[in-house]
Amino acid sequence: MTHATPPAVRARTYLMCPPEYFTVEYAINPWMNPDEPVDVPRAMDQWRRLRGIFTDLGHTVHTIPAEPGLPDMVFAANGATVIDGKVLGARFRYPQRQPEAAAYLRWLREHGYGRDRGEVRESVVVNEGEGDIAFAGRAVLVGHGFRTTEAVLPDVADLFGLPVVSLRLVDPRFYHLDTALCVLSDHVAAYYPAAFDDAGRAALAGHFAELIEAKDEDAEVLGLNAVSDGRRVVLPAQATGLAAQLAVAGFTPIGVDVSELLKAGGGPKCCTLELR
Ligand code: ARG
Repeated sequence: MTHATPPAVRARTYLMCPPEYFTVEYAINPWMNPDEPVDVPRAMDQWRRLRGIFTDLGHTVHTIPAEPGLPDMVFAANGATVIDGKVLGARFRYPQRQPEAAAYLRWLREHGYGRDRGEVRESVVVNEGEGDIAFAGRAVLVGHGFRTTEAVLPDVADLFGLPVVSLRLVDPRFYHLDTALCVLSDHVAAYYPAAFDDAGRAALAGHFAELIEAKDEDAEVLGLNAVSDGRRVVLPAQATGLAAQLAVAGFTPIGVDVSELLKAGGGPKCCTLELR
């Protein structure tokens, strides 16, 4: 099934964190190799280009200052989940990233969340923000198994007042939901079937009217770690096959080189927290 008319675009507000202190000095996912050097100026250029794409598309980008000693803080998607002005704070699985949760909550509180906007709830259980929690219009998808725990499901349902779709992740290379699935619009998603179990695949088929299946070679360059505004989809440049599939489905793919960030297991979506 393809779209007769291009899907509707909606201006977005994103929060990003510059990779000022980015390194790979520990390994908490299979992509990370502390022996492989990271080029920080290059990471910074790639990040600036990504931010520039968002602003050129008409989106608003806020930035949170990077903090020394938090090399993964560039991956803003993990910092929280924000839907309809309500914030669920993150709680990281690994100690190396745990202080990031407070930094993101502080920024959000300083920008009015929990005051003139909706509730801010701190999480008592592990959840790695929008990396695993994806807003899909009529429901919220929650990926769990590697980072986020299933125990967060009731909190997500209660805070956001939406049905929750539980998705077990089964391949350690696709350790966050946003490495294996991209919500393209309320009705269409792209995903890598092998990253989910049978129940997860069935749940996704039940939720989305159209599912685009990414090929191995596109999933393996984190091609699904993409940001869609409903029509334009910013994805890793190497995921050329997926870009072609997106175009056939009526979306406009925009490739971006994020090779330095890939060394930490991240891509465009990891660097981007949507403030809804
Ligand atoms: N090195 C980071 C980690 O393992 C990468 C996080 C990528 N973020 C994401 N939303 N997938 O936690």
